[in-house]
Amino acid sequence: MIWRCDLVPQYELYKKEIDEAMQRVLVSGRYTNATEVNAFEKEFAKYIGVDFSVGVANATDGLTLSLMALGIGKGDEVITTPFTAIPTVSAIIDSGATPVFVDVKEDTFLIDLDKIKAAITQKTKAVMPVHLFGNVVDIFKLREIVGKDMPIIEDASQSHGSKLGEHQSGSMGDIGVFSFYPTKNLGAIGDGGMIVTKNAEINEKLRLLRMYGMTDYNHIKINGINSRLDELQAAILRVKLTHLDEMNHKRNLIAKKYISQLRTDLFEHQVIEEGIYSNYHVFVSKFKSDRKKFIEYMDERKIQTNIYYLMPLHMQEATRFLGYKKGDFPIAESLSDKVIALTFYPELQNELQEEVISVTNKFML
Ligand SMILES: Cc1ncc(COP(=O)(O)O)c(C=O)c1O
Repeated sequence: MIWRCDLVPQYELYKKEIDEAMQRVLVSGRYTNATEVNAFEKEFAKYIGVDFSVGVANATDGLTLSLMALGIGKGDEVITTPFTAIPTVSAIIDSGATPVFVDVKEDTFLIDLDKIKAAITQKTKAVMPVHLFGNVVDIFKLREIVGKDMPIIEDASQSHGSKLGEHQSGSMGDIGVFSFYPTKNLGAIGDGGMIVTKNAEINEKLRLLRMYGMTDYNHIKINGINSRLDELQAAILRVKLTHLDEMNHKRNLIAKKYISQLRTDLFEHQVIEEGIYSNYHVFVSKFKSDRKKFIEYMDERKIQTNIYYLMPLHMQEATRFLGYKKGDFPIAESLSDKVIALTFYPELQNELQEEVISVTNKFML
């Protein structure tokens, strides 16, 4: 089977460094929020180009905690996209706020900035753009649209190392949130997340919120939650951070090859606009022919494909209470009907790349 994503080759490639890092933690006797987390927070903040970063248990918590830190909750609205992973939206709902959707663009798959103004109401308290599949929302344009006082929380869960010009994704808004779920470009051996900000006050608040609201073991200042990053994960992520640029470069080379060699009558690829460096978190394109048949065809040849995302979030059972209906976000709906993800990960060997391309190109209706 050729998997859509295989995580073992990455472990094998960096095995020595990862094993050493794990061993270091095991013998330290300190397994949460200690040396490795502190060091990783500093190294990650430096990489992203921000002053502070706060390790958390996962990005869903990271997004919810960000809203909590900004004092956003019940009765407030947060603008986001219906074409994203469910946690973007569950995090907003978890905070008590109401997600308000704005449709995406047909070519970039990113939130349509031209439609944001019309979605802003008195209740809008933040905008949460998503750098989907590694493509980057122009946060500076978004800032011009929403004004200087509207908080922007970048969902950078899929965009470690993606850039707009020289600016790292996650560094341009008020807060950026990253996921270290194993399949992410910077992936843990389990769950993990990071919140980044340039704002010292938000940083202080997040540090309290992620650990019971504690200032020390005897004093609870505010009501927080438990969302810690493990030492073991931080130690592994420190190793992988040193290889992130090289892994993203490999992904870019594979994407380039797919784009130049896959049949153009079958695929319309995600458009990455001039000035953007995508980390190509996944290789998702619109399929121009019969997608169901293509998936069956690939399955028969033991090549896995995936669909991100089969159902836009305004059509999920869990969001029915928001009152949206089919037809409200036609572009997100049409993308859901068309998109397909091919086998894609940085260590994907040449022969396997060739096989995916050659089998795909032999597809006939
Ligand atoms: C766009 C987006 N937002 C949020 C998340 C949530 O990340 P986590 O699984 O670390 O909570 C993910 C990961 O699945 C994601 O892809």
